[in-house]
Amino acid sequence: MKLSQRALTIQASPIRKLAPLMVEARRRGLAIHHLNIGQPDIATPAAYWEALKHYQDPVLSYGPSDGLPDLKQAIVAYFSRYGIGIEPGDVLVTTGGSEAISFAFAAVADFGGEVIVPEPFYTNYNGFATLAGLTVVPVTTRAEDGFRLPPLEDFEAAITPRTRAILVCSPNNPTGTIFTRDELEGLARLARKHDLFLIGDEVYKEFTYEGAAHTSLLQLEGMSDRVIVVDSISKRFSACGARVGALISRNRDVMDAVLKFGQARLCPPTAEQVGAIAAYRMDPSYFDPIRAEYQARRDTLLAGLTASPGVLLRKPQGAFYMIVKLPVRDTDDFARWLLTDWQMDGETVMVAPGDGFYATPGLGGDEIRVAYVLERDKLERAAKILLEGMNAYLSAGAGARSVEAGNLTSCR
Ligand SMILES: Cc1ncc(COP(=O)(O)O)c(C=O)c1O
Repeated sequence: MKLSQRALTIQASPIRKLAPLMVEARRRGLAIHHLNIGQPDIATPAAYWEALKHYQDPVLSYGPSDGLPDLKQAIVAYFSRYGIGIEPGDVLVTTGGSEAISFAFAAVADFGGEVIVPEPFYTNYNGFATLAGLTVVPVTTRAEDGFRLPPLEDFEAAITPRTRAILVCSPNNPTGTIFTRDELEGLARLARKHDLFLIGDEVYKEFTYEGAAHTSLLQLEGMSDRVIVVDSISKRFSACGARVGALISRNRDVMDAVLKFGQARLCPPTAEQVGAIAAYRMDPSYFDPIRAEYQARRDTLLAGLTASPGVLLRKPQGAFYMIVKLPVRDTDDFARWLLTDWQMDGETVMVAPGDGFYATPGLGGDEIRVAYVLERDKLERAAKILLEGMNAYLSAGAGARSVEAGNLTSCR
């Protein structure tokens, strides 16, 4: 039987593709430090579990396609804390932020359409684009520039008659960069000039360090009709398994369309929305210790990795990831080797190879993405195992990238 082009070409998640090697390493008795995936280990808030405990309906029924009214109201109230005025009608509750991205893609572009995304980017955008029949067109950001947005001319050069939107993730997965209001306003000007949508993936909104300010696309003037924001409780409330997110837009046509997408899948999870209501209603002080913990973890990992000359990384301002450039030619091979050939006292590390975060062929092959969602002592240990592993891998021969003088200084 013949499958569709989409079925044949959709990528396997580069974050998960090493899982069989990990399972095999575990079978051999190795303990594995997971630097590869953004699964927070912080407890889901008690308020969430309490709300679920008190969920008494005898039948777990379908809810409204756009989400429970109380949750929509709680999301509106949450955004109002940031001075962002939205109404319940601007919110569609989705099955995770993932569904919000899929709905946004399907709402703004037809098959063959293009969405411009600064790379490196959250690799699952590729999967959502394939499902929607779209192409992700990358505009490259570089470690050496702190992964800041490149000049607007680079974006303009990527625009074609098929371009329908620019998607920007801030705080960024995988780089940790928070884009400034100026950078976002530049994109807004381009969007107006070329009649494009701006899609903001803001699921890491709360995770900003050293007081860095996060600007939401919803705060940009004169952009009501063009902005779609993706929100999620997965990381914010350590509730990845709840599968609750939201698509937010003040554009009525967009909201009418995504409601119909939502009706086709009936509704987002009912009981988990009840937990989400309680989580969104928590006092904002809930985030203070969590933000401090992630910041301390970032600093621990940064200190552990900058111990090695030849490793290039930038201090991330937000989210809980960093891209690390290694003096290794092929980090895909290196990441596999860490699971198949390396151990230190019965332990090894799992990292995500960098190339999966780029759409431009050849980029990211000397980078890895690491997530700092482990406790500090574990991160310290993981950094040590990673660097020792790297040195052993390089001493073993083939994997070294030639290092130009001065090219690979540690930089923050
Ligand atoms: C940038 C970004 N957007 C969206 C998602 C999807 O999150 P979820 O579907 O769990 O809400 C993730 C998950 O890792 C992410 O990192």
